[in-house]
Amino acid sequence: MTRRALVTGAGGFIGSHLVTYLRSRGWWVRGADLKRPEFGDSAADDFVLGDLREPDVCRRACEGVTEVYALAADMGGMGFISKDPATILRNNALINLHTIEAARLAGATRYFLASSACIYPEYAQTTPDLRPLRESDAFPAGPQDSYGWEKLMAERLCVYYADQYSLDVRIARYHNVYGPYGTYDGGREKAPAALCRKVAEAPPGADVEIWGDGRQTRSFCFIDDCVEGTYRLMRSDHAEPVNIGSDRLVTIDELAALVMAAAGRDDLRLRHVAGPQGVRGRNSDNTLVREVLGWAPGIPLEDGLRVTYRWIAEQVTARHGEPAQTAPA
Ligand code: NAD
Ligand code: GDD
Repeated sequence: MTRRALVTGAGGFIGSHLVTYLRSRGWWVRGADLKRPEFGDSAADDFVLGDLREPDVCRRACEGVTEVYALAADMGGMGFISKDPATILRNNALINLHTIEAARLAGATRYFLASSACIYPEYAQTTPDLRPLRESDAFPAGPQDSYGWEKLMAERLCVYYADQYSLDVRIARYHNVYGPYGTYDGGREKAPAALCRKVAEAPPGADVEIWGDGRQTRSFCFIDDCVEGTYRLMRSDHAEPVNIGSDRLVTIDELAALVMAAAGRDDLRLRHVAGPQGVRGRNSDNTLVREVLGWAPGIPLEDGLRVTYRWIAEQVTARHGEPAQTAPA
């Protein structure tokens, strides 16, 4: 029997990569999103264009599938999620409430939720050299922003659907995922893509703007690891939330230095400016993911940034009609 999956958010960054991955594994895949992928065609067999805040659209999307990967979300980096908290919570709550109910009504047997490291409490992320976040650190709850609160609610929703309806659920907490085909401008971009764009656009000797003092820390997970971890988790029997992220902690200044190295640029300086900073530090504890999947994200940041920078530099060149600075292949 053909294995049939729905990927919501299939017009977005992780969703479009996941569709391609599932197809390569022999799945029949339907995508659903407000938009088709901006950078190239979707590999999906079928695509529902529509607003997943609407129950009818969710029902159409879920028809005839056995597994649902719920990735659709109104989301972005700090520049986006630090604004309009009510809109973000409302949009994402509607999407998640209606998607899981439609999955249940359609008889789907397994449901994946793309949750986030943003669910972890702010009080556990106040220093750059923080202890990496374990899954059990989620409670007592205290996410920094409405996006994190909604993801936590969506996690609980999955737990209750599993209890009440025996829907098999899998929950990943993604930690800052980056790679080609991700948003790199317009306000939703996260730090890796934003810094690649800024470096690609910088004239010789220019300053590259960094929000904050650059000493805040994060870990960054390359898209191929994210998709691989998602699929492995879905095939596992682990129904509790699991981190999918890198456990290599870097400061944002170090990230910028790695981007400049990927670009082959040694002529640029960093300039620290005011901007939304989010938590002071964030890292993934990968003990549990190693235990349950026998695997953890491992693609070196240098390798991921080289590929990502090259792709973003190409986009910048295509847009401006003049070459961005690129390192030799
Ligand atoms: P993305 O913004 O590229 O993709 C999300 C997609 O959802 C977009 O294509 C958007 O059009 C779609 N969408 C938004 N509102 C919709 C609606 N009402 N109806 C239909 N579609 C709608 O984001 P991404 O980076 O691919 O993230 C995918 C998932 O992973 C999201 O749930 C996100 O919260 C989660 N996540 C991502 C990261 C990360 O670093 N990228 C980290 C943690 C969690
Ligand atoms: N976006 C962005 N753009 N961030 C910058 C920039 C810039 O030009 N310069 C410095 N930063 C700093 C931010 O101030 C923040 O301290 C850090 O880089 C990381 O910012 P983001 O990448 O935007 O977001 P985040 O890591 O705080 O949160 C992201 O990851 C979560 C999961 O780990 C967001 O995408 C969340 O939506 C996501 O859930």
